Amino acid sequence: GQAERGGYPHFMLKEIHEQPRAVRDTLSGRVHPSGEGVILDTVRFDPQWIQQLRAVYLVACGTAYHAGLIGGRLIERLAGIPAWTEIASEFRYREPLVDERTLFVAISQSGETADTLAAMREAKRRGARVLAITNVVGSSVAREADDVVYTWAGPEIAVASTKAYTTQIVALTLLAVHLAELTGFTGPLGRKNLLESLRQLPEAVEAALHVEEDIKAIGDAAGGWRDAFFIGRGLDYFAALEGQLKLKEISYIHAEAYPAGELKHGTLALIEQGTPVIALATQPALREKMISNIEEVRARGATVYAVVRRDLSGFERYARQTVKLPVVHPLLMPVVAAVPLQLLAYYAAVAKGTDVDKPRNLAKSVTVE
Ligand code: AGP
Repeated sequence: GQAERGGYPHFMLKEIHEQPRAVRDTLSGRVHPSGEGVILDTVRFDPQWIQQLRAVYLVACGTAYHAGLIGGRLIERLAGIPAWTEIASEFRYREPLVDERTLFVAISQSGETADTLAAMREAKRRGARVLAITNVVGSSVAREADDVVYTWAGPEIAVASTKAYTTQIVALTLLAVHLAELTGFTGPLGRKNLLESLRQLPEAVEAALHVEEDIKAIGDAAGGWRDAFFIGRGLDYFAALEGQLKLKEISYIHAEAYPAGELKHGTLALIEQGTPVIALATQPALREKMISNIEEVRARGATVYAVVRRDLSGFERYARQTVKLPVVHPLLMPVVAAVPLQLLAYYAAVAKGTDVDKPRNLAKSVTVE
C-alpha cells in the first residue's frame, strides 16, 4: 500500500526520488578520501594480466545495456582499453572473440536475467575473466562471477528501472577509474576533476529532481503524443536510448532515439509539424553540432523540448521548453540527465492512466530466453 511506497503514489516515483541516496551508497567507501583514486576491494585483477588485456566486453539487456554503453565509453576514454557493449541475446550467438585476455562485464539489476547469465557462462567457457555489476546480493550473476561490484541501490520494485540504472553508471565509472589506475593510462582526461565531480554527484542528482514541476507539464502534454524522438550526440545518444525505452515501456507511446547527426540519413523524413523531439545537450564539446541538428528538426516543424546542461546556452530560441540540468563532469552527465527523462516517462504514463509499476506484457526480471 501507500505506506510501503513511502507516501508516493507509485514505486517508480519513490525510486526516482531515492536516487541521490542510492548514488551516495554506490560511492560510499569507494572514493579515496584524498580524492586521488578509487577503492574497489571486491575486484582482484592481476596487474600482469591487466597489462595484457586486449578488450573489455560489456553485456546486458534493456536498461542495463544502456548503462553498459556509457560504461564502455568511460573505459575507453579513461583507461585506454577498447570496450564493446552488446545486448546479451546477440552476444551469445555470434561466436565472439573472447579469450583469456578479455574482461567480460555482466550488468544486471536482478542478476537473474537468462540471456545475461548465459552470455556470461559462454564468456567464462572461452576463458574470459568475468566481473558482475548487480544490485542483488547472492544473485546468480554475482555467484558465478570472478569479481562483483554491487550497486547498493536498494530493492527496485517498479518494472521500469530507474535507480538501478543510475547506480550502474556510477559503478561502471568506478570500474573505469580502477582500470585506469592499473593500466597507468593518462589520456586527455584528468581523473582528478572526474573524481571531484563524482563526489558531488549525489547533490547534483538531488538538484536535478528540482525540474519535476517543469517535466510534469511536458508529461501532461505527452499523454497526447503518438510518437516521440529523442536525439543526442556522444553520451547524450546513450542517455536518449534510455529515455525512449522508459517512455515506451510505461506510457506505450512509440519512441525512438537517434544519434542527432544521423537524422538526415533517413529518420528526418518522419519529422512533421508538431512531432515531439526531445533534444539532449549536456556535452560542451558537442554544443554547436547539437544546435544545428535542432535547427534541422525545427525547420520541419518539430516541437522541441531541450534538456541541457545549465551552462550551455543557445537552446531556448528553438525549444518550446528548456529543462536545465546541474553542471557535473561531462562523463557523468548521463546520471543527472536520466532524472528528467524518467520523470517525463512517469508523468506521461500517469496522464495516460497506465499501470505505471506493472506495465502490460513485461516482467521485472526476464528469466526465460
Ligand atoms: C528496464 O526499465 C526494463 N524493465 C528492462 O529493460 C531491464 O533493464 C532488463 O530486463 C534487464 O534486467 P536486469 O538488469 O535485471 O538484468
